[in-house]
Amino acid sequence: MSHDTPHVIVEQRGHILHVALNRPDKKNALTHAMYTALADALARVESEPGLRLTFITGTADCFTSGNDMMDFMQNPPTGTDSPVSRFLEGLRSASKPIVAAVNGPAVGVGTTLLLHCDLAYAGRGARFQMPFVSLGLCPEAGSSLLLPLMLGHRKAAQLLMLAETFGADEACEYGFVNAVFDDADYQQKAWEKAELLAAMPPASVRLAKAQMKATFPQLKDVMASEGAAFMARLKSPEAMEAMGAFMQKRKPDFSRFS
Ligand code: COA
Repeated sequence: MSHDTPHVIVEQRGHILHVALNRPDKKNALTHAMYTALADALARVESEPGLRLTFITGTADCFTSGNDMMDFMQNPPTGTDSPVSRFLEGLRSASKPIVAAVNGPAVGVGTTLLLHCDLAYAGRGARFQMPFVSLGLCPEAGSSLLLPLMLGHRKAAQLLMLAETFGADEACEYGFVNAVFDDADYQQKAWEKAELLAAMPPASVRLAKAQMKATFPQLKDVMASEGAAFMARLKSPEAMEAMGAFMQKRKPDFSRFS
């Protein structure tokens, strides 16, 4: 069955599958259809021997504003076969490398998906944020495990609980991205790194990735429990208030909650 959407452009370039988010009028907010296309692209790279690597980009000045709040409110994901769950599991279980190039907003999963990339590069204009708690939700994509490991509890709390926005240099310092380039050529520079990696001995690359990933055997269970909690939170009155406020372009009011 075809799951084509114009909002994700998938193009094979040599041994690399380039997956480009392409919904600029909504800041590349991710709908269920887009998650399906992303999950299918990851599955394709896994299954095709000629493909060695996934290269994920947004549009030139926007990576993604994260989950499409309208789509998620109207049609909340309910299980492990939902498109978002399939995508996150595809990221976690990928045996072949994933390289990302990020500029402009990288919100929510736009930041946390980088935790699963093997290489990531940012343009100077990149702005990162994980506003799960401020939206009445909870951390996802393994971030509740991986961020405290990367940064310690307090810095992770600053990013996950206060949902502070940070720029490209901080993202590099924290370890979300490998390097920061000018906005004009960050994607080309990232592409050059992807090509270098795709030219390496592929079985050896996969083994190195598997060895590094074996360090976090608990990640699968953590992501499953985060996913269940996230889906439950989507129906919570706090999340309804937060996401409703965003759609209505007003400030959320959490004063009535205990
Ligand atoms: N879901 C649904 N629609 C979204 C969206 C999202 N996550 N992010 C942006 N949009 C829509 C806006 O509603 C707006 O639509 P409109 O033109 O019909 O009014 C359009 O995309 C442009 O967004 P806008 O907010 O005007 O752009 P901006 O440049 O001022 O700000 C962001 C960009 C990404 C900082 C801002 O849109 C934002 O904070 N988005 C929400 C991010 C978020 O909380 N994601 C959920 C994570 S779980």
